[in-house]
Amino acid sequence: MTMTDLRERCEGCSGCSLSQTRTKLVFGVGPEDAEVLFVGEGPGQQEDLSGEPFVGAAGQLLDDMLCIIDLGRDNCYIANIVKCRPPQNRDPSDEEQNACYPWLEQQIALLNPKIIVCLGRISAMRLIRPDFRITREHGQWFSRNGVPIMAMYHPSALLRDPSKRPETFHDLKTLQKKVLEMCDRTP
Ligand code: URA
Repeated sequence: MTMTDLRERCEGCSGCSLSQTRTKLVFGVGPEDAEVLFVGEGPGQQEDLSGEPFVGAAGQLLDDMLCIIDLGRDNCYIANIVKCRPPQNRDPSDEEQNACYPWLEQQIALLNPKIIVCLGRISAMRLIRPDFRITREHGQWFSRNGVPIMAMYHPSALLRDPSKRPETFHDLKTLQKKVLEMCDRTP
C-alpha cells in the first residue's frame, strides 16, 4: 500500500463523530521519504477549511521554528493525532484518539521516519507515554520501537506563553543535533 492509497481510504473514514462535523479531513503533508515526522494534536479551524495541517497562526510559528534549524515542509512530514477537527478546538477525547490512531500508525509504518517529534502534550501522551509530563520532559529523547522520539511545546502554547520560547529554542537545537547524526538527506 502507498501513502496515496492510505489517504484515499482515510478520506472515507467515519470511525468517530468528528467525521460528521469536519469540513475537510487533514491527512498529513510532506514527502513520502521524509526522515523527520512531526505530530501535532488535531486540526483547528484553518486546517479544517484547507485540509492542510498547521496552516493557521500556530502553523506560521511552526514554520519559523523549523526554519531556525534548516527544516521545512519540503523535507519533513507533518501529521496529527486526530485527522478531523474537534469542535471549538477542544482536546480530542480518548475515544476519538483511539478511533483515529490506527491511521497514524499506518502512516508511520509507511514513512518509517528516523526521528519523531511530538508537538504538545496530547501527542506525547499518545506516542511516548500516557503519563508524559510536557513541562518536565520536553526536549528529552525517548525511543518508540527503536525510533528516537522527543516532545516540544505545541506552537499554540508558545503563542499563549512566549516565556516558553527559550526552552523551545534549546529543544530545537537538540533536534538539529539528532538530525545531523541520524539523517542522510535532511540537512
Ligand atoms: N494544531 C495542531 O495540533 N495541528 C494542526 O494541524 C493545527 C493546529
